Amino acid sequence: MRPGLSSAGREDSGDKLLSIDETIQLIRIGEPPANQNSSLPAATSVCSTALADAPWVFDAQEPGYGPGASMHDMLPAGSPQQGFLPQEYRQASKSELDRRIRAAKAALGDRLVILGHFYQRDEVIQYADFVGDSFQLANAARTRPQAEFIVFCGVHFMAETADMLSRPDQSVVLPNLAAGCSMADMADLDSVTDCWNELEELFGTAPDAVGRQPVVPVTYMNSSAALKGFCGQHGGVVCTSSNATEVLKWALERGQRALFFPDQHLGRNTGKAIGIPLEQMPLWDPNQRFGGSDARTLHDSRVILWHGFCSVHKRFTVGQIKAARRRFPDVRVIVHPECPMPVVDAADASGSTDYITKAIAGAPAGSTFAIGTEINLVQRLANQNPQHKIFCLDSVVCPCSTMYRIHPSYIAWVLEALTRGQVLNRITVTEEVAIPARVALERMLSLKPASSVESAVTSA
Ligand code: 13P
Ligand code: SF4
Repeated sequence: MRPGLSSAGREDSGDKLLSIDETIQLIRIGEPPANQNSSLPAATSVCSTALADAPWVFDAQEPGYGPGASMHDMLPAGSPQQGFLPQEYRQASKSELDRRIRAAKAALGDRLVILGHFYQRDEVIQYADFVGDSFQLANAARTRPQAEFIVFCGVHFMAETADMLSRPDQSVVLPNLAAGCSMADMADLDSVTDCWNELEELFGTAPDAVGRQPVVPVTYMNSSAALKGFCGQHGGVVCTSSNATEVLKWALERGQRALFFPDQHLGRNTGKAIGIPLEQMPLWDPNQRFGGSDARTLHDSRVILWHGFCSVHKRFTVGQIKAARRRFPDVRVIVHPECPMPVVDAADASGSTDYITKAIAGAPAGSTFAIGTEINLVQRLANQNPQHKIFCLDSVVCPCSTMYRIHPSYIAWVLEALTRGQVLNRITVTEEVAIPARVALERMLSLKPASSVESAVTSA
């Protein structure tokens, strides 16, 4: 019996669910992965046939975000580009890559630590020493001071953060330089500086009677090191999806309003959860004067939201939630706060990838979950929690296309180079940028998530 995409039925077959890569390959050859339990929705299509291609196919193409990214996601000029992966790694079989990666890991021993974000494919996660969300991985980078090499299986902004938080003699390596983040790229230093200047024009720079500065900048972890540095220089802070509530409250204690970038959805969902009315959270369109708002609206604002979004989380809809509830009246719907506000409002709860993981682990056996986040994590959770029924809200397989650029072939390539003393794909942030960025990051790290599951936005 071929395993399907959802959890139920596995206990009978003893099979593990297919990984997302395996699922995509089956769909490509026209064999939709049959669901072993017809009561659960099965994924039978992919958002782009190009997903079935090996990631090095993209090394040779026009730089872009690849499958699943929306047509509005434009790769900025100057983004790091991955060169050609040597042929021996492109041609190596799965088992050969496995042998070579494990041999290189063993040879490097404690000199190496591999970090893996929850959204990485299972074929990569199997080699990670730490698996976690972006907040946990930012901390994990510091817990191995003896490691000379931090191989970061995540995306570019995460590797930059690890570089800034690690010691100068540690090297952070991103196995594929094309693993960026389309949302992070929606805000750049020039446009945020232009926005800041316009806000200064409106509000000046003097604090109010109770010492609050006119605007406190808050950047989501999913942003360049340059923007983290901007926040450090302007009394601001970084947040992740796991501590966004604490960070936004921190900012609003120190400022009359916050400028939140680049993810409008995380900003809006978090602002709403702490009681800020929608009319006090105008959207800032970087292509328009005063972001497209009038001076009165900006004056009355509490959180100014940058016009950014995640192409993966934007796919989730209220219609999908309604369909899941029709099919499973007892379903618990949990979504990531990068989803649009109506989706978060219609869900039972929203929270970071770590929140989702813990909420599932702590639920009574036999629970049913519909999850609105990246498919590799959802499928892994279904595999790790056979006591529950777990499925993705979106029945179309559409992984984060940039996370997806990391593949065992690139891991073997960078690790074997390290065993020869050669550091490939090193991510370095200049001290000029890193010094102020660390100020904003340290503020973030001191604002711990208000204890996992309870901290998430819960509307149930
Ligand atoms: P987390 O902060 O939950 O790890 O999410 C990072 C991310 O990129 C979500 O799209
Ligand atoms: Fe960026 Fe979205 Fe991918 Fe997260 S899931 S890394 S926000 S593109």
